[in-house]
Amino acid sequence: MSFEIKVERTENSRLSQLDPENIGFGKVFSDHMFLANFKDGEWKNARIVPYGPLSMSPATSAIHYGQSIFEGMKAVAHQSSDEAIALFRPEENAKRFNRSAKRMAMPEVPEELFMSGLQALLELDRHWVPRSAGGALYIRPYMFATDDYIGVKPSDTYCFAIFTCPVGPYYTKALRVKVEEEYSRAAPGGVGFTKCAGNYAGALYPTALAQKEGFDQVLWTDPLSHEWVEETGTTNFFAVYSDRIVTPALSQTLLAGITRDSVIQALRHLGHEVEERPLSVQELKDSLSQGQLAELFITGTAATLVNLDGFGHRGEYHSVMEQGNQQVSREVKHFLDELRCGATQDPFGWVQVL
Ligand code: COI
Repeated sequence: MSFEIKVERTENSRLSQLDPENIGFGKVFSDHMFLANFKDGEWKNARIVPYGPLSMSPATSAIHYGQSIFEGMKAVAHQSSDEAIALFRPEENAKRFNRSAKRMAMPEVPEELFMSGLQALLELDRHWVPRSAGGALYIRPYMFATDDYIGVKPSDTYCFAIFTCPVGPYYTKALRVKVEEEYSRAAPGGVGFTKCAGNYAGALYPTALAQKEGFDQVLWTDPLSHEWVEETGTTNFFAVYSDRIVTPALSQTLLAGITRDSVIQALRHLGHEVEERPLSVQELKDSLSQGQLAELFITGTAATLVNLDGFGHRGEYHSVMEQGNQQVSREVKHFLDELRCGATQDPFGWVQVL
């Protein structure tokens, strides 16, 4: 299947206003965006237009009932030439997008449409990819229901869109997380494994409460017993022991992070033992007091890989950062950073240079 993409270039590029040293995260948007519409059972009108507001009816069903999903990806400068940029496992994002779409009763976006829209957009805005260390072009593909109808049913029409924004780091320091035992992010049979908008909205209030207590993020636990660690606000969770690395096994209540999977494969490639299995808060506390727990870190597209300073549980703070030298997290982060930008050979075939 191939899709014709009409291109309307901006006449007023904003690129010269970009200050590469002060990008921040998620507030500056590149010149163009990709749009396509689903109507009468098919995707049509694939186009690239100048980045700008979308107009919609007040009755747009996505606003009322949350039929809305998204992905997060990054393009980085690649060392193979001055203009080269690289995507990292983009087909995994396309697949996860469609797993989310299916669960939210939305139409799938054909991988060809996802990839050709993405590539055409990046060709046009490739100069927005920061070439400064630590910078990246964050890519936000998303889809939302566009029927103007307030009965509760799957929409018949949808918009699939992609825009991009140059970004610096999402987190700039090691985080303090609160083990959450009152609120739940997801439940078996629910939508926790999807990147649907509501998963993020539902996390805002508990996160704000945790932040009032001096934490940066919530460490979600299972919804039934609150004994088992799941993930943090927008990231997956890893514990580094003296002889192995443990990360919670995937389930219906965890987002299957592409960075998570890449970190697991990279750690194994680097010779580390990695276990994907249930991980309890009690195990974390016991292994910390026995001197076995050396590092905690979290992974995600936006966050990449960030260390945790420690975790709060039932009014006590357990500091982990002081236990070790962050050797394992640094090693795997360095390996993946080098692989992405072409400084080291990619043994997995993950990097796609444009
Ligand atoms: C990502 O890591 O790309 C995410 O989706 C988190 C985001 C909500 C900033």
